[in-house]
Amino acid sequence: MENYILTVKDLTKNFGHIHALNKITFNIKYGDFFGLIGPNGAGKSTLLKILYGIVIPEAGDTFISGLNLQYDYKKIKYGLGIVPQDDNLDEDLSVYENLIIYAMYFGIPKKESIKKSVELLTFFNLEDKKNSKVADLSGGLRRRLMIARALINNPSLIILDEPTSGLDPEYRQNIWSRLRALNESGVTILMSTHYMEEAEKLFKNVIILNHGNIVLNGSIKEITLNKKSLEEIFLNIAKN
Ligand SMILES: Nc1ncnc2c1ncn2[C@@H]1O[C@H](COP(=O)(O)OP(=O)(O)OP(=O)(O)O)[C@@H](O)[C@H]1O
Ligand SMILES: [Mg+2]
Repeated sequence: MENYILTVKDLTKNFGHIHALNKITFNIKYGDFFGLIGPNGAGKSTLLKILYGIVIPEAGDTFISGLNLQYDYKKIKYGLGIVPQDDNLDEDLSVYENLIIYAMYFGIPKKESIKKSVELLTFFNLEDKKNSKVADLSGGLRRRLMIARALINNPSLIILDEPTSGLDPEYRQNIWSRLRALNESGVTILMSTHYMEEAEKLFKNVIILNHGNIVLNGSIKEITLNKKSLEEIFLNIAKN
């Protein structure tokens, strides 16, 4: 387990008769850029919500940095950065205030949170929006702020649920370059996407989910070795 930042074993979640996750098992190595792919309703968000503690699974074990999610979530969350699929920024606050208030949840001292916020605003090119209200930001800027906010506690693992959906190509590339830089600095990334081009460009390893089952697990290089594009593989899976 020491080689893995995340270990998931036989994870199961049902919503009534829907098997959102069906005994899924996989691992993520430290430093990986790990992708989660699958059609609508495959179970991606359910899996990610379990990892960030807002959905409770029926069965299975999850370890993050060697800690058991079931018992040690409070400790785990200090090392975790979370970018959910639905935007949950505080509309009435400014960009800067969103960062500072979020830092409070982690008990980060004021001086440190100010320094970190300024650093993140620079990294995400949001300096000139520092005092703008979130309600006035475009979708792309809000997404950047969501990612910036997730980094306030210097997480070692960041989990993003479709962080580039609905963004224009320029914003998307902009987010790619920042995620790549983060990964190169040693942060492990777990991210879901519907864009196969994005998956091929960013991810080192992936799982493909369909109807709550893992239908493929491997490195992007291995999976596309037989010259099949990820897009083709995805479309075949989505048909079933
Ligand atoms: N709170 C809930 N109550 C009932 N059913 C749910 C709930 N959350 C998810 N589901 C169902 O579980 C299945 C998996 O949903 P999930 O949101 O995990 O899929 P997804 O892969 O994230 O899809 P998308 O690509 O559309 O975001 C779907 O059939 C969905 O309708
Ligand atoms: Mg989803």
